[in-house]
Amino acid sequence: MTKANIQPANSETFARAVSILKDGGLVALPTETVYGLAADAGNQKAVKHIYAVKGRPAHNPLIAHVLSPEKAGDLAEISAVAQDLIDAFWPGPLTLVLPRKTSQPGELPTIAMRCPDRPWRRAFIEAGFKGHLVMPSANRSGHISPTTAQHVADDLGSAVDLIIDAGPCTDGIESTIVKIENNHGVLLRPGALPTSALAPYIPDLRLPNVDAPISAPGMLKSHYAPNAKVRLDATEKRCNEAYLAFGPTDIAFDLSLSETGDLSEAAQNLYSALRRLDTVKTIAVAPIPLQGLGEAINDRLRRAAAER
Ligand code: TXA
Ligand code: MG
Repeated sequence: MTKANIQPANSETFARAVSILKDGGLVALPTETVYGLAADAGNQKAVKHIYAVKGRPAHNPLIAHVLSPEKAGDLAEISAVAQDLIDAFWPGPLTLVLPRKTSQPGELPTIAMRCPDRPWRRAFIEAGFKGHLVMPSANRSGHISPTTAQHVADDLGSAVDLIIDAGPCTDGIESTIVKIENNHGVLLRPGALPTSALAPYIPDLRLPNVDAPISAPGMLKSHYAPNAKVRLDATEKRCNEAYLAFGPTDIAFDLSLSETGDLSEAAQNLYSALRRLDTVKTIAVAPIPLQGLGEAINDRLRRAAAER
């Protein structure tokens, strides 16, 4: 495999990225959550190429990433609640699923959309990028999301035209996804924005009905998986296991998500830790409290541990 093209995040690289995107190429972009694999949403061939490079099933739709919050109305019907959420949290780690403005035959009637918070966003606008991007996480389908440029290179290598390196992602876990229906909200994926932050805007936020047909097609049970088995709520280290700790502990751990028990630090470290420990048979993970970001961390760990 030829070498991955990793370049530092600076204005020259951003300009190069815009010309690659305009030519129908693929660029891996750092966001506050995880690294994404971006294509120009207006270029059907480039969008198809994303599915091929990731090995992503065709039925799994892509999140649109708008370059400014005002662009949301170009793609979707924005209800009052949706507008309040956009005003409060964009740019940031919240994805909204909204009714599409126009839908082509075979397309879902909804579109998932977010506006990420990173310097390349303004640089792309200034360089004259007019449309929007589609951008799933820049990993092989079903694998752990990447939180560094090297993770992207390890998964996708030279299949990506350019990987922009801005260091490790600050949030480290994917965006929170909320579907808005008639000014009510359904949580499709807990994520980097804790659900408690949504309460003032959506007091009756519902959890998806697990028996209903899959509402976020990517949210299959076994997703976000390392090769190793994952054992949850582990309070001891057994033989053939690597132990992933959280908080102060007497166990001789292999890595710790946060030695002080800080959930933001744990979210930031989660995917790097799973990738680094993925040489053993089983990764045993300490119990993680469920409050705040712990909800999203536990969600990803449960998926990593699910039967495959
Ligand atoms: O933080 C993030 O959201 C990252 C960064 C790169 O922005 N992106 C990301 O994309 O996690 P992806 O494709 O790995 O996960 C998006 C999820 C998938 O589970 C997909 O099925 C779901 O969003 N999705 C996309 N469109 C949808 C729709 N119209 N209705 C329900 N779910 C949708
Ligand atoms: Mg993904």
